[in-house]
Amino acid sequence: MTGPVRVTLKEPDDFDGWRDAARDLLTAGLRPPEVVWTVEGGEAELFGREASRAGASEGASFSVPRQFVDLAKAVVCHSDPERFGLLYAMLWKLKANRKALEDRADPLTDRLERLAKEVRRDAHKMHAFVRFRELTEADGQTRFVAWFEPDHHIVRREAGFFVRRFANMRWSILTPELSIHWDGENLTEGPGATQADAPGGDPLEETWKTYYASIFNPARLKVKAMLKEMPKKYWRNMPETSLVAPLIAGARARELEMIDRAAAKDGLASALEAERRIEPGGNLRASWEALLAEARSCTRCDLYKCGTQTVFGEGPLNARILFVGEQPGDQEDLAGRPFVGPAGQLFDASLQAAGIDRTQTYVTNAVKHFKFEQRGKRRIHSKPDAGEIEACRWWQEQERALIRPPLTVALGATAARSLTGKTVTISRAREAPLTLADGSECWITVHPSFLLRIPEEDRRAEERARFVEDLKRIRLRSEELAGS
Ligand code: URA
Repeated sequence: MTGPVRVTLKEPDDFDGWRDAARDLLTAGLRPPEVVWTVEGGEAELFGREASRAGASEGASFSVPRQFVDLAKAVVCHSDPERFGLLYAMLWKLKANRKALEDRADPLTDRLERLAKEVRRDAHKMHAFVRFRELTEADGQTRFVAWFEPDHHIVRREAGFFVRRFANMRWSILTPELSIHWDGENLTEGPGATQADAPGGDPLEETWKTYYASIFNPARLKVKAMLKEMPKKYWRNMPETSLVAPLIAGARARELEMIDRAAAKDGLASALEAERRIEPGGNLRASWEALLAEARSCTRCDLYKCGTQTVFGEGPLNARILFVGEQPGDQEDLAGRPFVGPAGQLFDASLQAAGIDRTQTYVTNAVKHFKFEQRGKRRIHSKPDAGEIEACRWWQEQERALIRPPLTVALGATAARSLTGKTVTISRAREAPLTLADGSECWITVHPSFLLRIPEEDRRAEERARFVEDLKRIRLRSEELAGS
């Protein structure tokens, strides 16, 4: 029999099935154009001969880079019908050249990266936009049920997120392709559903509305960006979107109100001040707590697997100075609080020397989990990479969106990257403040750990004095912005 070999996978997100088949095909030397990939129940291929695992070279050893496995696990969840073939084509290349995936100019790498990105984006939307409604079941127990329409086959992949996040609840997520159900112990799957199968609305929705209204800032309203982040298809299913129209409608009026208030004074400082005073929705603390609860089950990057806990920011929500460090260290990871270890002690002493009261500032980190290498009993700090900084940036942005500090201070290069999106050279950047996208000021200085690492005593004292000078300048500028 001639013609391409057809591989039929059991599910549209069947990574294991794809991997097993791909391994066999590769061992048998079948080139990518000789293989047609389909999914059971999907479109039938006209000219295919069924691939068989019989006679497959079990145990054929060909190891691929970890990076490819992660990429492939995401890509199989995409709805693009060519995804399995594209992955097989990349696997074929990797067999000849283990570094093939590193070639950014290769259109295949680019396409696969794009597919994976779209899947991750869809997963992010699911984490953010699933809204549960409370139901009482026939046995009198409560079940939370949500309706969601993903663009890709991500429901199985993301089930773990909801299990971790809502471990003690009974819940179901209904989607057109399949439904998943958690009873507190077991996760089960059922067939796809329709929106009519999900309930309407409940009092929980008020919490979301409060959170959303308090982060909504009329001066930063960008309808296009908002549509990109929260596509309209999700709107009808989300309680807070009932606020979107009134908030947009009221935005101009509130903006004018801010400008009016600022008119009494001059310049950006007073505009920011006016903005700080306007808190639509009011309940800032409840919003921050909702954010914290969400951050505690963050899985945006793999670092949640190694640290003990998410170390979120802390401090008053009306703080005028917000400090951003790099990531929690060993002691912070155990205590669940930022800057409490050796770097934290140096930070506290330096703040004191500069006349800044730490309890009046908000202190957070660019990355919220401790990244380390285990060496014997010791956990040795390891620098977060660009992907981890990027993944965690969202939390820092949410914290800043709630607190709206007139002045943000980046302690070191990781924080500077998280705040500016760019690689920053500290020695140059510490000379003068930058303006962030929201119009507020960002000051950049060294990280206290840098001071701890300087071996020569003289130089350490010198650098420490420079750090205190930077902090003094920051205090003076903060006072100036506050008009005192
Ligand atoms: N280093 C940081 O950047 N943050 C901390 O919380 C502790 C040490």
